[in-house]
Amino acid sequence: MITFALSKGRLAETSAELLGACGVDTAVLKEDTRKLVLESADGGYRFFLVKPADVPVYVEAGVADLGIVGKDTLIEEGRDLYEMLDLKAGECRLCIAGYPARRDVLTNPHLRVATKYVNTARRVFADREEIEIIPLHGSIELAPVTGLADVIFDVVQTGSTLKANGLVVLEEVFTGITARLVANKVSLKTKAEELLPLIARLREAVS
Ligand code: PRP
Repeated sequence: MITFALSKGRLAETSAELLGACGVDTAVLKEDTRKLVLESADGGYRFFLVKPADVPVYVEAGVADLGIVGKDTLIEEGRDLYEMLDLKAGECRLCIAGYPARRDVLTNPHLRVATKYVNTARRVFADREEIEIIPLHGSIELAPVTGLADVIFDVVQTGSTLKANGLVVLEEVFTGITARLVANKVSLKTKAEELLPLIARLREAVS
């Protein structure tokens, strides 16, 4: 049996489609259920549905053999696992964003940055003497709108959330943020016979 940790949210549908196209029985992923552990009818696959930030945790620990998660999360979490494949789906960018008329805030000696990517933001702003990172868990765009922060450091996909809130990208920091297939290091050795053919099929499907 192969165990997957899959991201709930925006990557959920893409992950199921991709795996389905590679012969994984994903019918159970379409069920409307609150169950967190799902098993394919053929008994070949088990799926854990977790928050994106938790996918690398399950895969690093070996509780899941494989995971599908955004590169943004991998950068932020910095876990000890193998990144096997760029699934070329869900492309977005990690950006600094704020009000267009207030671009000069970036030169402020003291800058307040709201983000859910706290570790990454600390690295991005490492050369600044006075930086205040404000950790948030969602609706990040609300922070500059309400005056909680000067700018945000966040993922931008279509740009519609920024636009709807009168904000713009001030600086692109990481581009090519896509969904990645990750693997547990031990599973890749001990379950190579099961995992490698599936990884090869996925590679073929995305290329
Ligand atoms: C992300 C991100 C932005 C939005 C960007 O939030 O934090 O708010 O998506 O996408 P867009 O450029 O297509 O508008 P998400 O939808 O994951 O929800 P969250 O606010 O709960 O973090």
